[in-house]
Amino acid sequence: MEPIRLLLVDDEEQFRNAIARRLKKRGLVAEQAGSGEECLSILKQRPMDVVVLDVKMPGINGIETLTQIKKRYPQTEVILLTGHATTSDGVEGIKAGAFDYLTKPIELEHLAGKITQAQEKILRRVEKEKEAQFRAKMEQQMIATERLASLGTLASGVAHEINNPLAIIKESVGWMQLILKKEELADMPRRKDFEKAINKIASSIERAKRITHQLLGFVKKHDAVFCETSLKVLVDEAVELVHRQAINKNIEIIQKIEPNLDNLWSEPYQIRQVLINLLTNAIHATGSGGSITIALKNAGDQINMTLCDTGVGIPAENLKKIFEPFFSTKAPGEGTGLGLFVTRGIIEKLGGKIEVKSKVGHGTAFHVTLPKHHNIKEGLGENKNICSDALEQIKGENTL
Ligand SMILES: Nc1ncnc2c1ncn2[C@@H]1O[C@H](COP(=O)(O)OP(=O)(O)OP(=O)(O)O)[C@@H](O)[C@H]1O
Ligand SMILES: [Mg+2]
Repeated sequence: MEPIRLLLVDDEEQFRNAIARRLKKRGLVAEQAGSGEECLSILKQRPMDVVVLDVKMPGINGIETLTQIKKRYPQTEVILLTGHATTSDGVEGIKAGAFDYLTKPIELEHLAGKITQAQEKILRRVEKEKEAQFRAKMEQQMIATERLASLGTLASGVAHEINNPLAIIKESVGWMQLILKKEELADMPRRKDFEKAINKIASSIERAKRITHQLLGFVKKHDAVFCETSLKVLVDEAVELVHRQAINKNIEIIQKIEPNLDNLWSEPYQIRQVLINLLTNAIHATGSGGSITIALKNAGDQINMTLCDTGVGIPAENLKKIFEPFFSTKAPGEGTGLGLFVTRGIIEKLGGKIEVKSKVGHGTAFHVTLPKHHNIKEGLGENKNICSDALEQIKGENTL
């Protein structure tokens, strides 16, 4: 328990000193003030948990001081010390918000007991506040998670539906492009315009396909198989894939990989997609001469991966939004805004976590933790097929 911050206010110095001395013997250390004014000026400088306040004082009296304390510092508890013949002051004080009152001459045991009770009241209030804050935070998180989950379901459902007509459009455009190349149409009026229009359709299909593929990427079932996975090999492969883009921008990619890095029992295709999404973002955000560092280390039953860049950074107001689907600061046509949404979806499905820290003008760091052995059964609810192969394997092992 934190030591109590206690203030003793009485205009009679000897009385104050005597009480303070005796309280100290019981482990209650009190600051002292000789008037209501001094009490308020101390409170202005530093907060107090409990104020023991004499009512009858020259200058502003105890009741007025109490009213001021309650107005300015409602958290502070006040115990009033009233004269023997003036219990009405005590009643008035309670009405003004005092914790309790004691009549002089006071018994020290009694005072010490009251101080402890006031302290307990404060502790209960702090606990309640913490609980309320925690509950509010959890509710907020749940709303955000549910929102993302339903957005995700909707988005991947839409992507799935769009994929089929898209395939038909693509096939038809391909056929039109072929026909246009035929000699019999060489003299067709405005053939070039037709060609241009058809090429535009073809490139728009490619863009639409990128969107649907990103969305379906993490719900795709057939190629998702759990197996022993070397994160180092995956990082090498992903770096190889983005290598050209990095060279073109004069960006160095540094790998800091712990020599005895353990393998994961996880899903390599999906992790590769995570790495490519994060690396592509980092390259896009980093200017010429910058660097991207990928660090991998064992951390108990997890592997920690940090991918940081020396890029433009992410403004605080965007940090909350970057994992939302379709949030992108890139020019229309350049970014789908799905990369990080999908990335987080994959990592969470694999039992891991992703966090981001960023400073505008300095760079961004994504911290990913992945469990070495994901509890496959946990993943079953949503996506049975992803794990079916691995489950079959485990079942097989169990029956042997
Ligand atoms: N390393 C980074 N540095 C700075 N900003 C970043 C970084 N990574 C992501 N962002 C910000 O987060 C936004 C969302 O990223 P996300 O990968 O989801 O979509 P995108 O990169 O815009 O589109 P896509 O992934 O389809 O190319 C980006 O537009 C960018 O503003
Ligand atoms: Mg991206």
